[in-house]
Amino acid sequence: MIVHTGLSLFILWFLHHVDFSWAERFTVVGPSHSIVSYVGEDVILPASLSPALDAEGFEVRWFTTNIYTPLLLYADYKIINLIDSRRALFQEKLKSGNVSLIVQSVRVSDEGVYTCLVASGPLEEDVKITLNVEVLGAQPSITMSSTEGQKTRLECSAEKWNPQPEVTWRDMNGADVTSQSTIKSERDSEGLLRVSSVLLVKEEYNVFSCLMRSKAPKPDWPSELNIYSEGSDGVKLSSLPFAQTF
Ligand SMILES: *[C@@H]1O[C@H](CO)[C@@H](O)[C@H](O)[C@H]1NC(C)=O
Repeated sequence: MIVHTGLSLFILWFLHHVDFSWAERFTVVGPSHSIVSYVGEDVILPASLSPALDAEGFEVRWFTTNIYTPLLLYADYKIINLIDSRRALFQEKLKSGNVSLIVQSVRVSDEGVYTCLVASGPLEEDVKITLNVEVLGAQPSITMSSTEGQKTRLECSAEKWNPQPEVTWRDMNGADVTSQSTIKSERDSEGLLRVSSVLLVKEEYNVFSCLMRSKAPKPDWPSELNIYSEGSDGVKLSSLPFAQTF
């Protein structure tokens, strides 16, 4: 009987011990907004444990579309799987619950929703972080491609943007005439956008400018086009880019 009691006590102690070490509940905390980066920059997708437990003995899995093909898998105190050496954890920071992913020299193809899944024993918690990669494209140029009825068709286009920029048209008085324009864009083989905005205007003396602006606070690229009537020659145009923003 003494042996039996001893065994029961041992089992109880064991269960209690295991229960105690597994009971350290945590959550994975990320930013409340998406992360914006420019092509070529290094970007950190910030994720940390709350409370700030030591994650060195945990499993940390970063993936986008498929949980079973992670971009990075850390387990058994080391990096087990890494698809691309541009990505890393701050391994010395795992101790303080920092499970952030760094992505070096960001590409457009890195864009997406990332999941950071942290597992400790039976506990699993995750956080999702959206990475947007911006490319400030080429300066737009305006062409007068055709006339449709009494109107002249002005097309303002530029290549290699991501995401789609804001396009603003103004006339000579600075009035915003963007609402009369239509915009379309298509992706090229690199995944970047060719953006084209069309404005139909009456053939009269006027100056139109087209501005493409990144939604993030970086430089703008304006482009200006002068249209003026000249006798019976009809409309002439000159494209006059200038390095000044509105
Ligand atoms: C994690 O550590 C890195 C490197 O020191 C730091 O830049 C980042 O802000 C930390 N992230 C969090 C969420 O604490």
